[in-house]
Amino acid sequence: MENILTQIQKADNLLKQGELVVIPTETVYGLAADAMNPKALQKIFHLKNRPIDHPLIVHIHEKTNLYEWAIAIPDVAYQLIEAFWPGPLTLILKKQANIPDIVTGGQDSIGLRSPLHSLTQELLAQFGGGLAAPSANRFGHISPTRAEHVITEFKEKTPLIMDGGPCQMGVESTILSLIDDPTLLRPGSIGVREIEKVIQCPVLYQQKNSTKKIRVSGALDSHYAPDTPLVLGSLEKLITEISASLDEDVILIHYSDRPVLPNKSIRYLTLPNDAKAYAHELYTILHQADHYQANTVFIERPPNSIDWMAIQDRLSRAAQIQL
Ligand code: TXA
Ligand code: MG
Repeated sequence: MENILTQIQKADNLLKQGELVVIPTETVYGLAADAMNPKALQKIFHLKNRPIDHPLIVHIHEKTNLYEWAIAIPDVAYQLIEAFWPGPLTLILKKQANIPDIVTGGQDSIGLRSPLHSLTQELLAQFGGGLAAPSANRFGHISPTRAEHVITEFKEKTPLIMDGGPCQMGVESTILSLIDDPTLLRPGSIGVREIEKVIQCPVLYQQKNSTKKIRVSGALDSHYAPDTPLVLGSLEKLITEISASLDEDVILIHYSDRPVLPNKSIRYLTLPNDAKAYAHELYTILHQADHYQANTVFIERPPNSIDWMAIQDRLSRAAQIQL
């Protein structure tokens, strides 16, 4: 295996030439380009088949001066950065004037985060600028938490991958807007209660269908989805559904005790019964389920509690049908 310094050198050269590089983070793998190079950024949208008006998160080194990217930064931003960076928290702030429109989808705000992964921090130090990076998957599809997921996704079009091993957290960063009062745009690895403890005030939730709505691509109804139709429901409802059907080419993903379905030769996949461990495994299991090319994937609805909020959110967008 190539040594780390050579890998970083190669990645840095490609990025400086306006090429894409796949970077590891603690949440999911990112498809990165120089955040100040519109031509390079276009390649991200092209490869992902992502609508051009969906803004990108800019990944910056933990020591970066925030004013290079944002203006009118409120005190709570610094409190949150002190508490959570490098880590899975994206802050939406008012952008500096020189940030290309393609990064922000033409909005006057920017999403910034400093990822918790030593390879990517070292690359950012060497590169010196910011890296715009969405998750390294086709638009709307399951996010990658391992290098091999990216290869399955983009095949011969896969850019250089910096392989940093399986992602530590497994669901995307929490996105918090600080444009007005702190507002949660996407639940993620860092919980709302943890944020509230730091900022000492309640976090608001973005209203569905609000007219002032900030665009968040993960906020589209269908997202994070496998190719195989996914049905989300309580174990009881799923079992009734499976039992009533003649189709045995189905997969049941569960986290509570393995159900008993006599006379059925369906495939079972098991996830851990703990929110953090579950999040770590979720996308790997969904990729695996897709790989079997079954007719339907049934997935047990996770508990309805705040610890499971990010998982609830991703599953309800990934599911075609909810029972
Ligand atoms: O964990 C993560 O955040 C991963 C890793 C690679 O860092 N990235 C990620 O990127 O999930 P993506 O593109 O799949 O989702 C980024 C979300 C999008 O929903 C986008 O709309 C939102 O961030 N976003 C970016 N800039 C924004 C802005 N200025 N205002 C509102 N939302 C923004
Ligand atoms: Mg994504």
